[in-house]
Amino acid sequence: MEQTLVLIKPDAVGAHHIGDITKAYEDAGLEIRAMKMMQMTDRIARIHYAEHLAKPFYGELSAFMTSAPLVAMVLAGENAIARVRELHGATNPANAAEGTIRKRFAKNGSENAVHASDSPESAAREVHIFFSETEIF
Ligand code: CMP
Repeated sequence: MEQTLVLIKPDAVGAHHIGDITKAYEDAGLEIRAMKMMQMTDRIARIHYAEHLAKPFYGELSAFMTSAPLVAMVLAGENAIARVRELHGATNPANAAEGTIRKRFAKNGSENAVHASDSPESAAREVHIFFSETEIF
């Protein structure tokens, strides 16, 4: 079964939406294989968001993601990567479909409630930034 990394970002954790968001994954038939609350450090941000390091918004992205605790999860299921991205909706909630997690809970395009891996290669890389193999069930 395919695995993907999900982060419930500091805005959604602070707004008490951990339960709502986790329920959306479970209602969709995805399995939670690993889960923990943690605070992202500058070092983890640089590794996780390596492809965005040179982008003009990296400073803002990193400051937000390290500002308060997040919840990291490994979700598994058939086509988990695409299905989770569909559940999340567009990066900016203004463009996200009704009923998606970002439409329901995101504030804007940067404080946008959730992150998910965008390809099998990203998932394989990102899962192991946050979890060791023995923490994944
Ligand atoms: P995420 O899925 O975590 O992956 C990269 C993140 O960068 C993305 O979600 C957004 O939160 C953020 N992002 C993308 N574009 C912008 C932008 N133009 N300004 C600020 N943040 C952005």
